[in-house]
Amino acid sequence: MTSFTFEKFIASYPGYTDTSYLDRLRELDYKRLEREKQVYLDYTGGGLYADSQVIKHQRMLLEGVYGNPHSSNPTSSTSTALVEDTRARVLRFFNASPEDYVVIFTANASGALKLVGEAYPFGQDCCYLLTFDNHNSVNGIREYALAKGAHVRYLPVLPPRLRAVEGKLDEYLANARGSCHNLFAFPAQSNFSSVQHPLEWIDKAHAAGWDVLLDAAAFAPTNRLDLSRWQADFVPISFYKMFGYPTGVGALIARRAALKKLRRPWFAGGTITVASVQGEKHYLADAPAAFEDGTLDYLNIPAVKIGLEHLESIGMELIHERVKCLTGWLLTCMKDLRHRNGKPLVKIYGPSDTKQRGGAVTVNFFNPEGMVIDHRWIEEKANARNISLRTGCFCNPGAGELALHISSEELSSCFNRPDHEQRLTYDEFRLCLNTKASGAVRISVGLVSNFADGQRLLDFLATLVE
Ligand SMILES: Cc1ncc(COP(=O)(O)O)c(C=O)c1O
Repeated sequence: MTSFTFEKFIASYPGYTDTSYLDRLRELDYKRLEREKQVYLDYTGGGLYADSQVIKHQRMLLEGVYGNPHSSNPTSSTSTALVEDTRARVLRFFNASPEDYVVIFTANASGALKLVGEAYPFGQDCCYLLTFDNHNSVNGIREYALAKGAHVRYLPVLPPRLRAVEGKLDEYLANARGSCHNLFAFPAQSNFSSVQHPLEWIDKAHAAGWDVLLDAAAFAPTNRLDLSRWQADFVPISFYKMFGYPTGVGALIARRAALKKLRRPWFAGGTITVASVQGEKHYLADAPAAFEDGTLDYLNIPAVKIGLEHLESIGMELIHERVKCLTGWLLTCMKDLRHRNGKPLVKIYGPSDTKQRGGAVTVNFFNPEGMVIDHRWIEEKANARNISLRTGCFCNPGAGELALHISSEELSSCFNRPDHEQRLTYDEFRLCLNTKASGAVRISVGLVSNFADGQRLLDFLATLVE
């Protein structure tokens, strides 16, 4: 008999009843979750699509004839119209004015980040500043910065809450050469800790002369991002995280003024107006075409419009409220789980309440002696119950290193083993770190999560209590 009852939940989170529309939607449009008896708790990894999205897209495919948009014949023009319509819909969704912003379609958020990294005019002694809790695709930009002689600085986040110290940011922002192009990158929501950093940082960085890259990949699925208020320069997103389908399409939403600074390192089909072989010259097209290499995924891009309309028909505020209630409940119940000797089962990495945080709860589990339980073992047990969790470090090594207290000395020694110079496997890395946890377990709720999902997870976790 479960002790995690709906009555207790609703007494603590009465706002959940206002989100009952999502229960009806799940019954109608996400039937396969119940049919397959799946407990899906990896929304930060990827969202789930509704049947209706796929049906609408399939109808579009079956009813039309679509050609490559790099032409002006009738079938090409049909594709172009659908792509441009979707582009305009993306801008409207994020309340971004077409005068100020442009949508560049990419394969995913990482593709959007690479566009910025490879073309940002980092100069000698200029600065790339980023928070410790960035995704690896944001960390990776440092390689471009270093290659161009720029400094890379990391703004720490402090365990256990994994938030940054505000004063430190001011200090770092003030310490850059004014004559430089300096770029500050941070996640609107960390995919490790779910911390939502203050969007006020955007104005602060602008006032200090910096360009701002706001990684919204983990934030956009359950929060309204209003780009008329928060005017970040570069905003990468992946649409499958927001509404599950299609995969393979993301975007860089960029301020036109900031885009003008970028210098593309190459050109490709579709990105130029003219290129000559004998003249060895090319003229770049205007944005967005200048940044869209080759043929766009013109059959899937229209499914993005369908997905955005799906989210709008529900309302981001409703999704946000449901996610907040379920996250709060999971945090409370997990904190209460204790072994018979009184020792806690769970350690939470990140905020332990619902203020300024999203719907991912990252934890490790401990035995009664306080030894960490291998996250891979937890995953195995969860798998057996059809519970989908995420384990490891979620491509976010910085937050993981701070949360798990792995020092830079330990890391240096693991990275410098002569026999591992070329490549270090994850298992070798674990061995190198000895008994320390080298990863964690992430539980994330989203669009159609419900109380029963949370209850099945908590019932499973209760079996770990000794
Ligand atoms: C915060 C954040 N940024 C960037 C990415 C990269 O997204 P993608 O793998 O779709 O390129 C992710 C993916 O999990 C993410 O959570």
